Amino acid sequence: MSGRLQGKVALVTGAGSVGPGWGNGRAIAVRFAQEGARVYAVDRDLERMEETVRLVEQAGGEIVTAGCDVTQSDAVATVVAQCLERFGRIDVLVNNVGGSAAGGPVEMSEEVWDAQIDHNLKSVFLTCKHVLPVMERQGSGAIVNISSTSGMRWTGSAQVAYASTKAGVIQFSRVVAVQYAKKGIRVNTVVPGQLYTPMVDVRLAKQRTGGDVTALLAQRQSRIPLPFMGDGRDTANAALFLASDEARFITGTELVVDGGMSVRCD
Ligand SMILES: NC(=O)c1ccc[n+]([C@@H]2O[C@H](COP(=O)([O-])OP(=O)(O)OC[C@H]3O[C@@H](n4cnc5c(N)ncnc54)[C@H](O)[C@@H]3O)[C@@H](O)[C@H]2O)c1
Repeated sequence: MSGRLQGKVALVTGAGSVGPGWGNGRAIAVRFAQEGARVYAVDRDLERMEETVRLVEQAGGEIVTAGCDVTQSDAVATVVAQCLERFGRIDVLVNNVGGSAAGGPVEMSEEVWDAQIDHNLKSVFLTCKHVLPVMERQGSGAIVNISSTSGMRWTGSAQVAYASTKAGVIQFSRVVAVQYAKKGIRVNTVVPGQLYTPMVDVRLAKQRTGGDVTALLAQRQSRIPLPFMGDGRDTANAALFLASDEARFITGTELVVDGGMSVRCD
């Protein structure tokens, strides 16, 4: 431990993972705990956080878990209150819950469109709604939202709701960053590219390559200039920097973690 988040309380959403390995939320919870944060880990599925808890405890860190669907305002208000009861403050909020659905406007049902807005964008709105007043009372706080390169570029397939909501996360963060800057609250966005996270095995390969994980990984790697794929730990290191006091003069910006993918156009 080098203590980059020593003394801070971090609320991390989606701190489990859909499968074994380094999902973004799990990696963020573990990395933050390694750096001294007390982590309040939130997921709608408590079982998915068991591995996260094991890894944090192995690292000698502190973590408390809470079940919550972050698309539900009352549930979010409850976990924020429980976090305050337990730790007395919230220094860092990481909005990590999110995920894609395939399709453009013609193929996608209205139900899926609405669900994507709730999952990727309303979730961020709701946690900010309930956590910002806490940070305002404290006179400090750092919010890190997890977007995606799909919110900035075409990334190989039509996923119009995901792209739109992840673009929304970026602009939401910029607006809130300016609104709350004078109150000592910073808001930034991590923009991960195509990572090798458990979601690839569990969901994406089925959607994209008939379950062929190797084919999907090759497809994703072919777009990435660096000769390897990142995983949740790369997202976590970027989030750690933005959450820490090292980023004290950084707000309203994006940190892209994509191995160079979004700057190539050949
Ligand atoms: N995996 C990638 O390659 C990649 C790339 C770019 C961006 N991202 C973004 O990173 C974030 C995390 O993705 P991932 O693939 O690591 O996560 P994941 O799909 O493994 O999910 C993480 C956790 O979120 C929980 N969750 C889902 N809906 C929830 C809800 N409504 N309330 C509370 N918890 C909920 C799940 O139970 C799961 O444990 C997402 O915002 C995603 O869009 C991922």
